[in-house]
Amino acid sequence: MPQPSKRIAILTSGGDCAGLNAVIRAVVLHATSLNWEVIGIMSGAHGLISRPPQTMPLDAKKVDTVMMRQGGTILGTTNKGDPFAYPMPDGTIKNLSQDMVEGFRSLKCDALIGIGGDGSLGILYHLAQQGHFPLIGIPKTIDNDLGLTETSVGFDTAVAVATEALDRLQPTAASHDRIMILEVMGRDAGHIALAAGIAGGADVILIPEIPYDIQHVADHIKSIHEKGRNFALVVVSEAVRTVEGNKKMNELYGGQKRLGGIGHVIGAQIADLCKAETRVTVLGHVQRGGQPSAQDRLIASAFGVHAVDLIRSGKMNRMVAWSNRKVIDVAIEDAIKENQQVELHGSMVRTARGMNICLGDNTSISVA
Ligand code: F6P
Repeated sequence: MPQPSKRIAILTSGGDCAGLNAVIRAVVLHATSLNWEVIGIMSGAHGLISRPPQTMPLDAKKVDTVMMRQGGTILGTTNKGDPFAYPMPDGTIKNLSQDMVEGFRSLKCDALIGIGGDGSLGILYHLAQQGHFPLIGIPKTIDNDLGLTETSVGFDTAVAVATEALDRLQPTAASHDRIMILEVMGRDAGHIALAAGIAGGADVILIPEIPYDIQHVADHIKSIHEKGRNFALVVVSEAVRTVEGNKKMNELYGGQKRLGGIGHVIGAQIADLCKAETRVTVLGHVQRGGQPSAQDRLIASAFGVHAVDLIRSGKMNRMVAWSNRKVIDVAIEDAIKENQQVELHGSMVRTARGMNICLGDNTSISVA
């Protein structure tokens, strides 16, 4: 075997999602077919802090066909702490960026492929600038809020899981004459709620982009009852605000805060206003785990191959993206600048309104 002509590193960063292993597999299969060596960095960029850095050699055998069917990431990941201002166990804040840059240099790699969402790609971009190393980004996030790409790895699976949840909630709602509230993830973007809500036959979909009036939601549900249907399905995105204008947050171990719980607030209000039984399901991390959908595996594979081709052609600081049925690449810097929320006059909102799904506001149906 001749000496590898290039050595590249890959890491997964930020919250996990289905399809990460499929990306890793595509990168490794394509890179090793070019006789390159691939090193996996463990636990996001955090693996670069240890000495020696925590790594895993990756070859075609390691990434066999079983791996791409599995959720999670074989490399591990983290969505805690900004390395430029990292909270240390003793309570102090330390800039660990130079440790990471030096860790990367010690691996003697020609380029880094970072699989991440907007936060992680932003951090990796700044590390690459500081360390002057070539970086290629691959977008992943169930939230689908990264700019300049129509979709990110993990989104399709999350939508499928949330849709399946509605399929399971509907018969039990009908059997018990109940209003079922499903709270889904998505941070400040309502993409999961809107897509799953439409696909899963929701009557009401509340997203952070559209302020809601709870009385309007209740009136919509009452009108369903009046027409003779005994149940209703409501999807609520986690960052929807309370009537006081606050996001519902949970305080976790170590002082971290995460969105969650708005479904219960809205469920109680609907029960009160509609004088009906409500039940609340908070779907949570179920949306991130499990087997990736066929679509996520496909996108992951196309992204992985394109990322390697970008390194091959000497490009850097590019993020692969999906646009008009093909893979393109855009500047990482531009992609992370643009937080992609639901378009208020886009096809999905028009579809929902056109089907008389209540989006919580008073806007009447207008299909252009
Ligand atoms: O960004 C992905 C995401 O799943 C969000 O939808 C959610 O708000 C957050 O991560 C949950 O983070 P954690 O895994 O830290 O609970």
